[in-house]
Amino acid sequence: MPKIDYLRISLIDKCNFRCQYCMPEGTKFDYVLNHELLTNQEIVTLVRQVFIPLGFTKFRLTGGEPLLRPGLVDLVKDIAQLPETEDLALTTNAFLLKDLAQPLYNAGLRRINISLDSLNPKTFDRITGNHGRSRWQQTWEGIQTAHQVGFNPLKLNVVVIPGLNDTEVLDLAELSIKRQWHVRFIEFMPIGNPELFGDKAWIDSAELRHQIRRKWGLMESNIKGNGPADVFQIPGAQGTLGFISQMSECFCDRCNRVRLSADGWLRPCLLNETGQIDLKTALRSSVDLAELQTQISQLLLLKPEINFKERDSGTDGKYTRTMSQIGG
Ligand code: GTP
Ligand code: 5AD
Ligand code: SF4
Repeated sequence: MPKIDYLRISLIDKCNFRCQYCMPEGTKFDYVLNHELLTNQEIVTLVRQVFIPLGFTKFRLTGGEPLLRPGLVDLVKDIAQLPETEDLALTTNAFLLKDLAQPLYNAGLRRINISLDSLNPKTFDRITGNHGRSRWQQTWEGIQTAHQVGFNPLKLNVVVIPGLNDTEVLDLAELSIKRQWHVRFIEFMPIGNPELFGDKAWIDSAELRHQIRRKWGLMESNIKGNGPADVFQIPGAQGTLGFISQMSECFCDRCNRVRLSADGWLRPCLLNETGQIDLKTALRSSVDLAELQTQISQLLLLKPEINFKERDSGTDGKYTRTMSQIGG
């Protein structure tokens, strides 16, 4: 088992988009109430006094949509300035990034991953559930601003969905050629909304690589991330292409992360409900932090190594929680 040193911290379960694969329109969500969200102070206490002493050095802020969280910039500042923080990153849909990119950079954030499933405004709106005024332009401006401000690496996440955006794979891959942008193609996971796309909802990464190789050639890259992506490069390109293939391959045995939900539950795996720890209640009842560390060390041993498709989902009730609720 690799060293588990990466904590993904969800700051909020709400989102201003309704991506079909994550928070489909028409689905009713019981959002976490404000007083149940971990406060900034609680998050910093956990990072500094619990996770860092356990050897954690990499932190990612996620949601829902983390840019909706009040006090985000202060939180970034607090975590970025800890000497033990080796890596601090954020995953966002970029809709509110235009105004926030510079303040976040000034607070010490250097790395952002952005969801961008389409370059076509109509398709984009269809996937992200936006009606009326298209949201593509503002999202694109958010990405451009992040680039100008100097975020590096800048990663673009594309969930490839057959019949929706699979025809755009080459256009999206092309974004990695002229700029140092890292485009990552993600196999759609039937979680949260398992019935949504029928039996074979995803396209194997190998098939996408084949398309790209035919057009430009493709070589393995020696630039690696912290995450589960297999990294390649179009010859001569400034950026890279990553493939996150949790459906066609298994990377659970090299998974280095655990997740903290917005209401303070620590999960050993994206898909396991078993063995979670309620850190919020522990903090609010003044549990001894050393005792919490012991409990977390035991939880880390529970991390499953077999591919989630082969696990018994029975006790997990068919993975009905969405990424936004778990903390993407
Ligand atoms: P880097 O540190 O930049 O490499 O980021 P990352 O890939 O860990 O983070 P990001 O938030 O961009 O996640 C991209 C995608 O990877 C997610 O949308 C998921 O599809 C997938 N992913 C991330 N973590 C896990 C995990 O623990 N299990 C599974 N099955 N997929 C994951
Ligand atoms: N399958 C794969 N990726 C997903 N994301 C959200 N839901 C799913 C899913 N069901 C991705 C988003 C975002 C990241 C945090 O999670 O595209 O980039
Ligand atoms: Fe929001 Fe991200 Fe989920 Fe889309 S994938 S609904 S942007 S949390």
